[in-house]
Amino acid sequence: MAISSSCLRVFVAAVVAMALTLNVRAETGYDLWLRYVPLDDTPERDAYRRSATAIVVESRSPTAEAIVFELQRGLRGLLGVDAARVGRPSSDGGVIVGTPSSSPLVAALGWTDALARAGRDGYVIRSANVAGHAVTVIASAGETGALYGSFHFLRLIQTRVPLARLDIVERPRLDRRLLNHWDNLDGTIERGYAGGSLWWPDRVDRRLVDYARANASIGINGSVINSVNANPQSLTEPLLEKAAAIARIFRPYGIRVYLAANFAAPKMLGSLSTDDPLDSAVARWWREKVDDIYSLIPDFGGFVVKANSEGQPGPQDYGRTHADGANVLADALAPHAGIVMWRAFVYDEKVDPDRVKRAYMEFVPLDGRFRENVFAQVKNGPLDFQPREPFHPLFGAMPKTPLMAELQITQEYLGQSNHLVYLAPMWKEFLDADTYAKGTGSTVTKVIDGTLESKTRTGIAGVANTGRDTNWTGHDFGQANWYAFGRLAWNPDLSARAIADEWITMTWSGAPELRATIRSMMLDSREAFVHYTMPLGLHHLIGGDHYAPMPENTDPRRADWSATYYHHADASGIGYDRTRRGSGAVEQYRSPLRELWSNPGTTPDALLLWFHHLPWDYGMKSGRTLWDELVQSYRRGADEAKALETHWATLHGKVDEERYQAVLARLHRQTEDAAAWRDKCVRYFQARR
Ligand code: GCU
Repeated sequence: MAISSSCLRVFVAAVVAMALTLNVRAETGYDLWLRYVPLDDTPERDAYRRSATAIVVESRSPTAEAIVFELQRGLRGLLGVDAARVGRPSSDGGVIVGTPSSSPLVAALGWTDALARAGRDGYVIRSANVAGHAVTVIASAGETGALYGSFHFLRLIQTRVPLARLDIVERPRLDRRLLNHWDNLDGTIERGYAGGSLWWPDRVDRRLVDYARANASIGINGSVINSVNANPQSLTEPLLEKAAAIARIFRPYGIRVYLAANFAAPKMLGSLSTDDPLDSAVARWWREKVDDIYSLIPDFGGFVVKANSEGQPGPQDYGRTHADGANVLADALAPHAGIVMWRAFVYDEKVDPDRVKRAYMEFVPLDGRFRENVFAQVKNGPLDFQPREPFHPLFGAMPKTPLMAELQITQEYLGQSNHLVYLAPMWKEFLDADTYAKGTGSTVTKVIDGTLESKTRTGIAGVANTGRDTNWTGHDFGQANWYAFGRLAWNPDLSARAIADEWITMTWSGAPELRATIRSMMLDSREAFVHYTMPLGLHHLIGGDHYAPMPENTDPRRADWSATYYHHADASGIGYDRTRRGSGAVEQYRSPLRELWSNPGTTPDALLLWFHHLPWDYGMKSGRTLWDELVQSYRRGADEAKALETHWATLHGKVDEERYQAVLARLHRQTEDAAAWRDKCVRYFQARR
């Protein structure tokens, strides 16, 4: 179709005018929360400009260069200023960044106590006077801390916090803050819903720098770069070279590379006749392999291992324990200060008929038998990343073993990259849960941050939701879960709401009404998802792809992969009896939880059918029958999903059109899926009762 030039001019003018009035720009989502879009022309912006006139970074290390790059990029984007890198502040408004050992200016401030309190990953940000000029100083005992502090400084501007009289001291609560990538060497991702791997099979590109920047901005300091269902090839020379290349890109950003190791590697790669961890040839093989890895990657972090779980090889193949298996690797890693994260995701049918009891039964007797550099890596709940689970009873039950909590960011059972489900409320529920291990107040957070049982090794891992999709996570709101994971790993006490507000302001806009709308969508979304997929604690009613409702599913391979194994719905009622009369799983929790959860009357509604099998006409606290309550939950969840879509529609024109439409399409699908969950489950249970 031919368009006349005057017509085109009018059209272009209209588009420009619209863009100016709405103050929105085309976006792909690639920039995540590091968009650095210009602040409005207000007196506040002028004040920020006066506080960012120059950058003083004395070190010339790669991390220092990354700091300068990020600050200049951020300040240019947010404030439109070109803050030059200078040797000393020569006017007010300089930003000085450094460590006492690489910056004489920072050393001269004598902030020894504060820097010691912050530690090498923490930082101090203060307004100060240096050489007669008002400046902002970002100081840390370690270079990575200085980088984290620089991102914090930019976040202050991004979230419109005034820069006057700053006095911030931050220290991460957990030392190891890791992403676990379930990336296969062929480039596919197990439970990945946002495109292929960022690095396998053969990519080492600029995108990895942006990945590293994003992680550093939220304090993530390690990446396991291959799947827990580990291909032993990942430990061969060419792939280790590749891992080393990735590590070189990550290093300036304070991110260490870790690998998932296959326990049968000695046999599969080294042609040994056994993988028995107590065999001296096996121990030697692991020592030599680890030495090779460190010669290529001097700051290699260590191994995560999935052993004797879902068909993976492990020490039990030789009659040995998980501790024997972990220790042979730990001994090889110890001289290099590497660690083992030995996963407790095991559910051997021979151990107990109830799947959720098995890991506890296998691991508790091993407490005290692991080497000092071994973590047991434990999923938040005892089953498998369901939308709601009680906390895993291993938290608080292994006082001598450091426990690394494993959360899942990629929403395997939570609508994958199609549903908006903000996970911070779920993670907070877990972190704040009281284990009662040492009386009231023994929260999961205190177990993993070491304070409850005087542990010095601490960490948390999140199964990543990133992929090669332009916006990294498929759903634009999936980015919020990556962001929230990092922020909670840094400080588990942050609220889901505060994290959402930061993320919304940086990712969408700081406009108060828009923020309020998106915030309430995010904060309501997890409960909505629970309402339409797992009302009253009814779990694992999901199909083999872990997406669609399949309450009828009976898996011929394993009972505990079947929905019917979990819901037990028949004429007598519904739910899994885990009281003493049933499987007794409730006994793995301490008093008063075991008493409270043994009695349906004192079990929270949200976990009722997790712990109890109850008749359909059981009287709920609401006054309704159990059946009516179930139906009501499914209906409510479907309505709440629809409300997410409706609320989003009110933002049309207030956010950029590209992301608006992309999110709208996914929210529409969520509405339809939620209705399908409601209809299928209500129909199915109606027929069973
Ligand atoms: C879940 C998931 C698997 C994964 C496993 C694990 O079961 O579906 O894909 O391998 O968890 O955590 O090891």
